Amino acid sequence: MKFCKNILITGGAGFIGSHVVRLFVNKYPEYRIVNLDALTYAGNLANLKDIENAPNYVFVKADICDFDKMCAVMKEYDIDGVIHLAAESHVDRSIKDPFTFARTNVMGTLSLLQAARQHWGGQWSGKRFYHISTDEVYGALELDAPEEPAPYGSCFFTESTPYTPHSPYSASKASSDHFVRAYHDTYGMPTLVTNCSNNYGPYQFPEKLIPLFINNIRHGKPLPVYGKGENVRDWLYVVDHARAIDVIFHNGQVGDTYNIGGFNEWKNIDIVKVLIKTVDKLLGNPVGHSDHLITYVTDRAGHDLRYAIDSSKLHRELGWAPSLQFEEGIELTVRWYLDNQDWLDNITSGEYEKYYEEMYSKS
Ligand code: NAD
Ligand code: TYD
Repeated sequence: MKFCKNILITGGAGFIGSHVVRLFVNKYPEYRIVNLDALTYAGNLANLKDIENAPNYVFVKADICDFDKMCAVMKEYDIDGVIHLAAESHVDRSIKDPFTFARTNVMGTLSLLQAARQHWGGQWSGKRFYHISTDEVYGALELDAPEEPAPYGSCFFTESTPYTPHSPYSASKASSDHFVRAYHDTYGMPTLVTNCSNNYGPYQFPEKLIPLFINNIRHGKPLPVYGKGENVRDWLYVVDHARAIDVIFHNGQVGDTYNIGGFNEWKNIDIVKVLIKTVDKLLGNPVGHSDHLITYVTDRAGHDLRYAIDSSKLHRELGWAPSLQFEEGIELTVRWYLDNQDWLDNITSGEYEKYYEEMYSKS
């Protein structure tokens, strides 16, 4: 079968990547979608059961740090476009093991850039290297006054906010963003970079706040809130992120950066209360049933106080806006995890259970 484009999506077996792969496979039968993933603890092919037999879908198990393999994949599938999501993505893990983050996020991105550059041989027409990054590279914002309602401050991250990463995770993502821009500026590679706020939705590995807490509420386990729970994050439903990636991949200005966010700031403790209320309601528990699970624990080292992203450029230039209100998105998300307990059980056994026990045994 002849395809009009061959798109390499890295990290497609992870949380956001699986939504991007699904969207592209279903929406563009004329493209061949090559999902390349190392299947680390965070990668799970069960996330893509519904499209695994699609005629325009191929899975390749490989490590992006393996430069020879990246060159071979570029050649074998004659790749025209790269959407690069593969990464180590959890801040707490980066605090424990920064080397793995530098290896995958920095060296892996460089290996992919160089393989694409060699394959394209300076013929950039119709080519795209799109790197998915995070708002965490911009550092942390202040709260104007702790008791004010959202938005909690008058400052937001824009595309020109200077990079000030604080965690090993955000430092590694910042470094990879710089390499992508350097390939544009030095070699003329048609690159795009986007920096998105916190995502939530189905298929997120349950070490991140929302799926971890939904699972713990269901099982009556403590909810480890870092510090006082006053840190603020901007939350976006993952399918809306995938929609933004589609729009930017096709219509974004080459060499440019776009911020993606939900204009949806929440303090952690308020999110936790919404999760408790929603899980209790859906399980038929009385109001307040799980409130006692909230457990304040030692704060995360270097914990960024507030992230808030201004995505008005993306709205103005490319017409993208989030499609879901947070209340709808969170209810869909809670329902999905409650309905997919098997998916959670399969990944929360074994190695992950040991990691989790060790992580929280001191709290
Ligand atoms: P995830 O941890 O759920 O998935 C990462 C995927 O990358 C996994 O499938 C894993 O197997 C794969 N991977 C890891 N190392 C690899 C390697 N060396 N070679 C090949 N594959 C490898 O992450 P996510 O939350 O889906 O994030 C995806 C991307 O989006 C990341 O680049 C992350 O920095 C970025 N991002 C995430 C968020 C968020 O809220 N989750 C927000 C903004 C940006
Ligand atoms: P997380 O989902 O890890 O995303 P990120 O660190 O990339 O923002 O955490 C979201 C927020 O929730 C962050 O402020 C840390 C906090 N948090 C807790 O309070 N307890 C937890 O167990 C976890 C995982 C996160």
